[in-house]
Amino acid sequence: MSEATQTATAGTVADDARHDNPMWSSRLAFILAASGSAVGLGNIWKFPYITGENGGGAFVLVYLLCIAVVGIPIMIAEVMIGRRGGRSPINTLRIIADRDKLNPRWKLLGWMGIAASFLILSFYSVIGGWAINYVGHAASGAFAGASSDAIGSMFGGLLGDASSLLMWHTLFMVAVMMIVVRGLKSGMERAINILMPALFLLLLVLVGYAASTDEFSKGLNFLFAADFSKLTTEGVLSALGHAFFTLSLGMGVMLAYGSYLPKRVSIVKTAVTVSVVDTVVALLAGLAIFPLVFANGLEPGAGPGLIFQTLPLAFGKMAGGSFFGTLFFALLVIAALTSAISLLEPVVEWLEEQKGISRLTGTLIGGVSIWLLGIATVLSFNEWAEFHPLAFLPVFEGKTVFDILDYVTANLIMPLGGLLIAILAGWFMNKQAVENELDMGNGIGFKSFMFVLRFLAPAAVAVVFIYNLL
Ligand code: PHE
Repeated sequence: MSEATQTATAGTVADDARHDNPMWSSRLAFILAASGSAVGLGNIWKFPYITGENGGGAFVLVYLLCIAVVGIPIMIAEVMIGRRGGRSPINTLRIIADRDKLNPRWKLLGWMGIAASFLILSFYSVIGGWAINYVGHAASGAFAGASSDAIGSMFGGLLGDASSLLMWHTLFMVAVMMIVVRGLKSGMERAINILMPALFLLLLVLVGYAASTDEFSKGLNFLFAADFSKLTTEGVLSALGHAFFTLSLGMGVMLAYGSYLPKRVSIVKTAVTVSVVDTVVALLAGLAIFPLVFANGLEPGAGPGLIFQTLPLAFGKMAGGSFFGTLFFALLVIAALTSAISLLEPVVEWLEEQKGISRLTGTLIGGVSIWLLGIATVLSFNEWAEFHPLAFLPVFEGKTVFDILDYVTANLIMPLGGLLIAILAGWFMNKQAVENELDMGNGIGFKSFMFVLRFLAPAAVAVVFIYNLL
């Protein structure tokens, strides 16, 4: 008897049935979509600059270890929970708690995830807007021969101008909504089938270009030669935190995507593939960026401005810089878009599950409220630059609204969500169901996976989490 008939016979609200939304059309479609979510500003903007700040190789090694030991197991767990529940994060967790006779409060984990998507997208969209703006700068040749002051004031000028930030943020959000509103197959899958290959192609062209510079080996060295004297505790912790952010874990995005995953697809293989793609893209982004930085005598440790200030300087000095600069920022826009889609989707999926809300209404309600909240981030760089609303708490001292949103989501909600997902899948969920979903048999592979999920991953996350709170 199929699941659907079972539910019908039981005559209950169709709780056990998966939603009637279509499924991903193939394993590849899921891999592209989940990689699209994972590969984002985190890979191309954040990974290079935190690697630069943390001295390179040794940090990269720790990051790779975190992906393998914590990231992959939690991604497997999250996709599995999503597929088993087959609904938006909140309802999936409600259904699973119900079926496995767990505390109904597990559904709060779903609420936390939806809230995190909401908050992250509100600022992610503003930064996506910067990237769109920079495509224009690069294409118009504005970097060519520009001094570092000129490039600095280009960035400062953008951040200082609330109305133009708002315009780019709006443009980005509209693009995201136009894709999500068309639904899983004709919206998201179609867009991702074009955007992801374009992303890989652009990245390869850029790495090829970097490989033709004299400083390529210096870039390679910086990324892969581990000098442990440069590694700090902070660095280790930020590597683990970044593993969560870059794999889009701990907040229901992979759970929502997993809810559309057909039963016959292997979750383990798929999750490993997505994590490998994400990691390779981050490393390639590093290989595209650092040789240019070194070839132009610039410093890798510039922080968040690496992509928007250091790199344009490099593009400005080299032959063909306007062309490659345009490609680079186009790559950044594409990466940001496919991640943003995955942030809006769980919100819309949940709204759609409410009585009488269509996909169109859901996308409008979700998208417009996120856009509105984004205005707080827009203002954080100018009018509200000195507004530190939570300054009475020591962790939030000197933090703008944008800083707070970034901190709360990446350092608190995502690790906490990841921890709870590992605990739910490792300790509470029906063991037989876990075994069935993962379909790896009950041998050494499954046993070691369960060990990592029950002990190693939660312990690692707990350490970061507690450290972040202190
Ligand atoms: N993984 C995305 C990136 O690296 C960010 C993201 C986080 C997307 C959480 C979805 C959910 O940029």
